[in-house]
Amino acid sequence: MANEAEKEAAGRAAAELVRDGDIVGLGTGSTAYFSVVALGERVQSGLKIVGIPTSVATADLARQLGIPLTTLDEHPQIDITIDGADEIDPKLNLIKGGGGALLREKIVASVTKKMVVVGDSTKVVPALGKFPLPVEIIPFARTVVERKIARLGATMKLRMRPDGQPFVTDNGNQILDCSFGRIADPASLARELNGTPGVVEHGLFIKLAKLALVGKGNSVVAVQPKIARSKRSVTKRSQSNTVRAPRRISKRTRS
Ligand code: 5RP
Repeated sequence: MANEAEKEAAGRAAAELVRDGDIVGLGTGSTAYFSVVALGERVQSGLKIVGIPTSVATADLARQLGIPLTTLDEHPQIDITIDGADEIDPKLNLIKGGGGALLREKIVASVTKKMVVVGDSTKVVPALGKFPLPVEIIPFARTVVERKIARLGATMKLRMRPDGQPFVTDNGNQILDCSFGRIADPASLARELNGTPGVVEHGLFIKLAKLALVGKGNSVVAVQPKIARSKRSVTKRSQSNTVRAPRRISKRTRS
């Protein structure tokens, strides 16, 4: 079960990595929320940054907290992005999009020098795929895309809102939540989905995250991706370091 204290500790620890003058990608979701709140506090204390939000909800939160915002047109390269994930594998490949913001999140991640993923300990998995993979689609192409994804081996559901209407993303698209089961080769599946007309984006984030900060009990563990060391693919174990969990904040209203 997701752990709020672990999310807060990880989100706050990541916010400490931001430096004066940084262009900062602001992630979406209940863990990234804590990073945005912590950044808001640092801005109030004099930190000079500009943020690029990955969703309308995060933009609203950042404005409320007084974080100056900018656009990719003004700043097409981002120094650091802090974002959550639904699953994190040992290579720091991710499934994202549980909150429906995967398209903007991936655009932002793709132009970020250092993407830091934050999560509670439930997000770390040996292999991706237990969490259904969100795929953002053009509504016009829905049936065509559903057939293609079924051929790739998944069952899927159109994401719905609580009122029974299809969920609509910030970009006016729909989301198919696709259950592939264990995804043996995420990069290959990502290529298949990228090559499917009607798919706008999918939630597989391959080799984009440089660091994961994961809340674990009372501490935050830093995880770097497993690195291939030789042609024979001898791999190094994930580098893990425990970092001190930052001070908890008082309760604030979440957007
Ligand atoms: C939104 C996302 C979120 O970062 C992801 O769903 C994790 O969310 P949470 O921190 O609330 O568990 O990808 O599109």
